[in-house]
Amino acid sequence: MKKTILIHLLLGILSTTFAQNRLTLNADLGRDTISRHIYGHFAEHLGRCIYGGFYVGEGNAKIPNKDGVRTDIIEALKKLKVPNLRWPGGCFADTYHWKDGIGPKAQRPSMKNVWWGGVTEDNSFGTHDFLNMCEAIGAEPYLAGNVGSGTVQELADWVKYTTEESGSPMSDLRKTNGREKPWIAKFWGVGNEAWGCGGNMKPEYYANIYRQYATFMTDWGNSYKLFRVASGANGADYNWTEVLMRDIPHNMLEGVALHHYSVIDWAKKGSATAFSEEEYFKTMNAALRMEELVTRHSTIMDKYDPQKKVALVVDEWGGWYTVEPGTNPGFLYQQNTMRDAMIAGTTLHIFQKHCDRVRIANLAQTVNVLQAVVLTEGEKMLLTPTYHVLEMFNVHQDAVLVPLDVHVNDYTFGGQKLPAVSASASRDKAGRVHISLVNIDPNRSQEVSVTIRGLKASGVSGRILTSGKVQDHNTFDNPNFIKPADFKGAVLKNEELKITLPPVSVVVLELK
Ligand code: AHR
Repeated sequence: MKKTILIHLLLGILSTTFAQNRLTLNADLGRDTISRHIYGHFAEHLGRCIYGGFYVGEGNAKIPNKDGVRTDIIEALKKLKVPNLRWPGGCFADTYHWKDGIGPKAQRPSMKNVWWGGVTEDNSFGTHDFLNMCEAIGAEPYLAGNVGSGTVQELADWVKYTTEESGSPMSDLRKTNGREKPWIAKFWGVGNEAWGCGGNMKPEYYANIYRQYATFMTDWGNSYKLFRVASGANGADYNWTEVLMRDIPHNMLEGVALHHYSVIDWAKKGSATAFSEEEYFKTMNAALRMEELVTRHSTIMDKYDPQKKVALVVDEWGGWYTVEPGTNPGFLYQQNTMRDAMIAGTTLHIFQKHCDRVRIANLAQTVNVLQAVVLTEGEKMLLTPTYHVLEMFNVHQDAVLVPLDVHVNDYTFGGQKLPAVSASASRDKAGRVHISLVNIDPNRSQEVSVTIRGLKASGVSGRILTSGKVQDHNTFDNPNFIKPADFKGAVLKNEELKITLPPVSVVVLELK
């Protein structure tokens, strides 16, 4: 008897030490679609995102461009399948007067960019430039309206200018400025961070203001309906969401926003590249907090909107560190390492898990600012590890979320633990099943076994993004140091898939 207990005890210890991560995939089930719009991006008039990033000027003979926008960036974002792009802010949006950015460039007034470095904004990149750029990329625009320092008429006019076919002073003005047809501009933010840089409002006050603005932001008889997004909560401010969902009629509210950045400490953010394992663990802890935030905000939304008509729009997310040494602190320029790849992969898994409510999200920001997918230096351009994760994951866009039962090991540091592995699966319109997996553990490989149900898979192929150290990154001298490679670490036998995930790795598999 004693011997049997001992054996069981030993087996127990062994199974915890060498425990496999176990997933069960029900490939033929699933109900909710993963909106491609959770793969959206954000471009603010901030630092070198627009000027010196996307936009290098029409007369630039050194850097190939289309109407002043770098063609290498356009091509990279097309490959990424960027579904929507948010512009012109951020905090900048509530200081922006769109009429300053139309008409002959030489006649446009200048302003001071008060939020970001106090630099002169000459309005040379305006509405036409942005909307034409979106068309070139194949992304839908998501315009952030000025509520903090603008007027109802100004925002209503912007809607008419961009979306109305003809027959109004605004559509006439657009035609005078060289654009005959309206653009497709469905997504509109009604202010940004109204609790802070967007006006320091209380939620009750903002809810009333929102109602007023949204009343005059209608489709004016166009073929598509506008998608209006209320400025949302700062992280865990659940009261903000509660008040908005309670006080704004849902027939004038298509989305409620949420902002959450992965920051160790706002007072001491730490270097983007020279960080310790402790800092890495803290960043991942902050990134994984998105699960709790999305769950709790969704629960509040469920109370007022059980049919989930109003979307949760996470229109700012990503890692935020101390700026690169020697750069303008107001420009928020930071490098991008495998840590950022881990943030991207795990966060997208969270959005996918909650795709019934999270239907738009925007990584901050696209070029040269915060967790960028593209960095530029003069004529040089590089794709960051974050870019590669989003490119690998784009197979999930508009696919059906496939239920995945997940039991995973912990990544432990200093007595604290986080789930080491995260995963998500989807079935696309052609019936192909994709599984993405992330191992955030910087020290250990993870063995994963997946039981496949509802699909007779005959083969598996995949790609991996990994590197020796979590601090590794691409540089302008070595821009392809980190890039996706073919993955040979998955073996399919009968209905069981065995996968070895190296430390800090992202893998995307396709079952055939
Ligand atoms: O993305 C940078 C800034 O962060 C945005 O302008 C603002 O909305 C947020 O606080």
